[in-house]
Amino acid sequence: MDCVKQALLVGGYKNVINRLMIKKLLLSFSILLLLSSLSAQQLSDRAWARADSLLGQMTLDEKVGQMTLFTSDWVVTGPTLRPGYRDDILAGKVGAIFNAHTSEYNHQLQKMAVEETRLGIPLLFGYDVVHGYRTIFPIPLGESASWDLQGIEQTARIAAVEASAAGLNWTFAPMVDIARDPRWGRVAEGAGEDTYLGSLISAARVRGFQGQNIGDENTILACVKHYAAYGAAQAGRDYNTVDISDRTLREIYLPPFKAAKDAGVYSFMTAFNDVDAVPCSGNSYLLQDILRKEWGFQGMVVTDYTSINEMVPHGIVANNAEAATLAVNAGVDMDMQGAVYYDYLAKQVKEGLVSVETVDQSVRYILALKYELGLFDDPYRYGSKEREAEEVFSQAHLNVALESSIKSLVLLKNERGALPISASKSIAVVGPLADNKAEMLGNWFGDGRADDVITPLMAFRAIGADVYYAKGCETSGEDESRISEAVVAAEQADIIVAFVGESGYMSGEAASRSDITLPGPQRALISALEATGKPLVLVLMNGRPLDLSWEVAHCDAILEAWFPGTMGGPAIVEVLMGEANPSGRLPITFPRSVGQVPIFYNAKNTGRPFDANNKYTSKYLDVENTPLFPFGFGLSYAEITYGKPVLSKTEFSASETVKISIRVTNTGDVATTETVQLYVHDLVGSVTRPLKELKGFQQVTLAPGATQQVEFEIGVNDLAFYTRDMTWKAEPGDFEIQLGPNSRDVQTATIKLTD
Ligand code: NOJ
Repeated sequence: MDCVKQALLVGGYKNVINRLMIKKLLLSFSILLLLSSLSAQQLSDRAWARADSLLGQMTLDEKVGQMTLFTSDWVVTGPTLRPGYRDDILAGKVGAIFNAHTSEYNHQLQKMAVEETRLGIPLLFGYDVVHGYRTIFPIPLGESASWDLQGIEQTARIAAVEASAAGLNWTFAPMVDIARDPRWGRVAEGAGEDTYLGSLISAARVRGFQGQNIGDENTILACVKHYAAYGAAQAGRDYNTVDISDRTLREIYLPPFKAAKDAGVYSFMTAFNDVDAVPCSGNSYLLQDILRKEWGFQGMVVTDYTSINEMVPHGIVANNAEAATLAVNAGVDMDMQGAVYYDYLAKQVKEGLVSVETVDQSVRYILALKYELGLFDDPYRYGSKEREAEEVFSQAHLNVALESSIKSLVLLKNERGALPISASKSIAVVGPLADNKAEMLGNWFGDGRADDVITPLMAFRAIGADVYYAKGCETSGEDESRISEAVVAAEQADIIVAFVGESGYMSGEAASRSDITLPGPQRALISALEATGKPLVLVLMNGRPLDLSWEVAHCDAILEAWFPGTMGGPAIVEVLMGEANPSGRLPITFPRSVGQVPIFYNAKNTGRPFDANNKYTSKYLDVENTPLFPFGFGLSYAEITYGKPVLSKTEFSASETVKISIRVTNTGDVATTETVQLYVHDLVGSVTRPLKELKGFQQVTLAPGATQQVEFEIGVNDLAFYTRDMTWKAEPGDFEIQLGPNSRDVQTATIKLTD
């Protein structure tokens, strides 16, 4: 049924929604993506040579200027220390500006740098283009639920096309922090809890932003963040201490950064937190030993917002001057917003605390990147009014946003045949998020505008659905006085769809929650709706796993929609009405209660694994050990059955591989996309190993009745880990292979790696 699309067209929305067009567009994007994956970025010899020659002409103050990044006064995400950024540009005291966009404004600032300073060095323009510039895609956690790497690369590509059209050449993305604690608001910005999936998504996003050639006008520098282990903040409280073993750091938290580096990312952002008692912006183990020496990273390291200054309250330096010394000697090239290099770096060099060579090395990275971007050839090449008009928020981009939102939706529960909704039914559309444009953008939405968003209510109305609407309550506060209006709407309809969740500000930076249940009077709303006895569907919008134990018991169906972006409304309505079949899979575990947190699928067995009949085993007195919804979980409107795993051999040596295949059959009556997941458990290791680790997945689309043989290949690299002496290798022995539709419902087979 194409009626949502047609009706939106009739309704005068900027429309889009023609499947043929989408297919054509996806095809052309996939050709581009294939090309882009062929090149891994390196700074060229020419860029280094030109950087060196310019460096020779620079004063110490000019060098420090290049190492300084200030925000404009457009958007601010922390203390504003320097209101006079325009004066600083004119004085040659700043090398990059963030939070300024549109080609017109950025060209004005660029003109000041290029035409009114002694050396005329062009500025970099950065911004948090995290899940779209103006066309807003689902939040990264939601998009990660698609497990669709090509789609994720494509939305990053589009974000870069739009951002570069609007005068930007640098994004502070992707955020690749592994997040195992849903109390932490920033889980919304990453790819979830898993290192393997997170690493693939990290590389896909870098390729998307940076494209095939960073010298192209429609590509932007990516900045992988927050290096490192920010997601391990204790108790999920933002900016908090991180204290993890080197093994956990390297095995769980670092690989997505390494994947970004291998994909050619040009910049890294340091994290706010400390790791093993050293704040990341002064941490030479992270910045020198690992990033530069082990990984050979050749790009630029920028701090997070005032994180050099924050080493003073961290208690590792006494004042900002010492902080400057610690940061630059640790390997930080650019100071974001702290004005610490600006105020103290030249002085520290003059006092012999920092060498000129150290400063020069940082400036070389920055200048070489500016050369590589082509800014010295044409400082105004990023953005133009024409490009903005043609490329920003284009119809083609909205098409992709719709597809991306659909693929991010995860069906968590569907009973009593609640979904899909038959077109003949009347629908009560209720709840605080049924018609709330702004909240659907989530957080870090670039230049996304609430007015652009199509809400679920708008999409229902556009298809002429028989709708009764009432908001009922807000997402926060205590006011229950309007719940009765939602009940009146519910009583008139055949089925109730309640849009509940969090508001956008509850996710992202400085948005930790100690209670991860639905906030405000929303449970009271659901109770009142349930009392009508009508089928009750919940559509959730939120930026983190929520404790849904109560909700599961009080509704018929739950569709997790995250913050779905500009085209979220039509995407949700397509799925609710059965035009599209939900195919998202959770990239992060949903706990039964906050007391289980941190809970993640790749946990270890312990010496006293759970035994219901033995008190002295690892468990709680008041809640089960299992999660409410496991990692990798998601339902669809089809039924999929799995055959038995078949192995090409059961023993193999380090030079061989094992092929593992499984037959999947769609026994339902609608086409579906199934994500077949492969996990590995190393049964005995020189150190304790997780009970399962994702090592592969494949998405197959199956028509009703269709069967497909899905094949994986496992080699020694898939079995490697940091052994007792911290070498990365696989140890001979038995491995359990687990195959299934999610991390819980797996079938197993055993293989042996011989000596
Ligand atoms: C602070 C955030 O932690 C970081 O992710 C962001 O890129 C910067 N502010 C700049 O906005």
